[in-house]
Amino acid sequence: MNMDYITIAMAKGRLAEKAIALLEKAGIDCSELKVETRKLILKDESSGIRFVMVKPVDVPTYVEYGAADMGIVGKDVLMEADVDCYEMLDLGFGFCRMVVAGPREVTGRYFVDKRVATKYPRIAERYFKEKGENVEIIKLNGSVELAPILGLSEVIVDIVETGKTLKENGLVVLDEIFSSSARLIVNRASLKVKSQPIKNIIARLRGAIN
Ligand code: PRP
Repeated sequence: MNMDYITIAMAKGRLAEKAIALLEKAGIDCSELKVETRKLILKDESSGIRFVMVKPVDVPTYVEYGAADMGIVGKDVLMEADVDCYEMLDLGFGFCRMVVAGPREVTGRYFVDKRVATKYPRIAERYFKEKGENVEIIKLNGSVELAPILGLSEVIVDIVETGKTLKENGLVVLDEIFSSSARLIVNRASLKVKSQPIKNIIARLRGAIN
């Protein structure tokens, strides 16, 4: 844990822009974050915050181990990571749905003994276990919609935001597992040791959420 700064792990990619907008609305200077750079640690000296830009899947890890005090990450990633930290705020952006999807023809007890391709193997496993369906989970790292098209799997478990990717690949939503949005997470020890500055940031973010 770094005692001088509050370290916030930020998910690179689709959540980043809206996360920065919210932080700025909360009065946190993010000008360094908006400059094109390969630097991975960016500081706002005035508010004593430093940002680390990491892959979304790594945000929960940094926060769980206390390498970052706080993190901004999607609920989808958080559910998959299953880490031990506090989820403090729903930040009100990055809305998407975790779904089971497949070709339209797949109906009825479609899941039994079927293969399921996903970037979220734990979420998929939990979902089908609760349903009492025996499936084979195939872990992929992207472009999951390809799997049913090429016969790698019958269905997929993935996030849907606009629905464009499913539609353009001839797939439909077969079931919704949960809805997701960006969350603020906090390391357990940090909340005790750096209680005041962390609560202050949380209060400012809460005030800035729409
Ligand atoms: C995500 C997700 C879907 C797509 C959904 O993938 O896995 O493929 O976005 O968005 P839509 O409903 O708005 O079309 P991402 O763009 O992160 O790329 P990836 O497949 O390479 O992980």
